[in-house]
Amino acid sequence: MWDRLFVDCHAATMVAAPGNPLGLLPNAAIGVQDGRVVRVGKRAELAGFRAAEVVPLGGAWVTPGLIDCHTHLIFGGNRANEHAMRRAGATYEEIARAGGGIASTVAATRASGATDLIASARRRLRALMAGGCTTVEVKSGYGLDPASEIRLLNTARALGGQEAVRIVPTLLALHALPPEFAARREEYVDQVIDELVPAVARLQLATAVDGFCEGIGFTLAETERLFEAAARHGLRVKLHAEQLSNSGGARLAAKYDALSADHLEHIDEDGIAAMAEAGTIAVLLPGAYYALQETRKPPVDLLRAYGVPMAVATDCNPGTSPLLSPTLAMNMAATLFGLTPEECLAGMTINAARALGIADEVGTLAPGMAADLCAWAIDDPAELAYWIGHPGPDRRIVAGRDA
Ligand code: NIG
Ligand code: FE
Repeated sequence: MWDRLFVDCHAATMVAAPGNPLGLLPNAAIGVQDGRVVRVGKRAELAGFRAAEVVPLGGAWVTPGLIDCHTHLIFGGNRANEHAMRRAGATYEEIARAGGGIASTVAATRASGATDLIASARRRLRALMAGGCTTVEVKSGYGLDPASEIRLLNTARALGGQEAVRIVPTLLALHALPPEFAARREEYVDQVIDELVPAVARLQLATAVDGFCEGIGFTLAETERLFEAAARHGLRVKLHAEQLSNSGGARLAAKYDALSADHLEHIDEDGIAAMAEAGTIAVLLPGAYYALQETRKPPVDLLRAYGVPMAVATDCNPGTSPLLSPTLAMNMAATLFGLTPEECLAGMTINAARALGIADEVGTLAPGMAADLCAWAIDDPAELAYWIGHPGPDRRIVAGRDA
């Protein structure tokens, strides 16, 4: 006998079938046992199965729980002041070069006590959860010294233990040059490679490392050193690439079998071809494009033409994307970047799971997958990208339990 059987619902399984890219299954039932999906089928097909609890969902559409595969959730303070400066005409790069930007959040984060740090991250996490997230990637990157980066990753782990959500922590080692290393770039990169990456691997605090490959971030050569270190220590890689300019980061990421290359407004065809070849996921971050009032969009048609799977994420961070709604990210991906509603939903389920290397666990509704799901009071899954920030699912279920 199963633990639970969800009935009176329709399912968007996200298991693509010919002519049915979302794997839509009207009049569905979903069996759950020990926190996993055991069976998804037509209600009538599952009529003979018994469960300790039969849960009617009132005609809801059930999707896999949403996955936000790119966030910088944990930080001190906020940067509402920079929002105002940008409205007055300053650019993100100007603010960063003048000591604002990431550096100012690093200072606020280092100065933040443990209670404040976790409490503010929890508020943001709960907003994402209320919006439908059951898995959230959390990057470090506002500590920028080994102890502070490890503290952020430990905070991410603690949050995951306290809240009904899966947290996937990423070491964002090369995010910005910390002020104490201003005249010693190479030494900073050495420290990341010689101390931080090995420590994080040893402590199993992250599954992947990330970097910011950009004029105001790190060079291709520095990023490559990071990727080599990650490979030596058995960590996967991801990269903030081609956001503000084309620096070849996506191609480099593909060379190191990156899980994802993220942003990509300035990527060229070579970079896309390399990603397609490597199976690297394109993570699109419309919140940053919107907040920075960028005009150059990621080349969605070319990504499609090369068959590069696209994920969508909030990029929740205090500077370029103070975005706390997964469905608003989906709406922006549709409205600003031209993704179809189907691509938006795949972008926050199956392709987001791929971008985190956990597609065998979450992101689709199929036997053996974690029973992480959302039940939405909507008439059509396309509504999730249609409302400008849908308030969230009626029920959010994590590992088979209401959360
Ligand atoms: O993804 N590009 C670097 N990282 C963030 C911005 C972080 C910040 O400005 O604090 C991003 O856009
Ligand atoms: Fe980011």
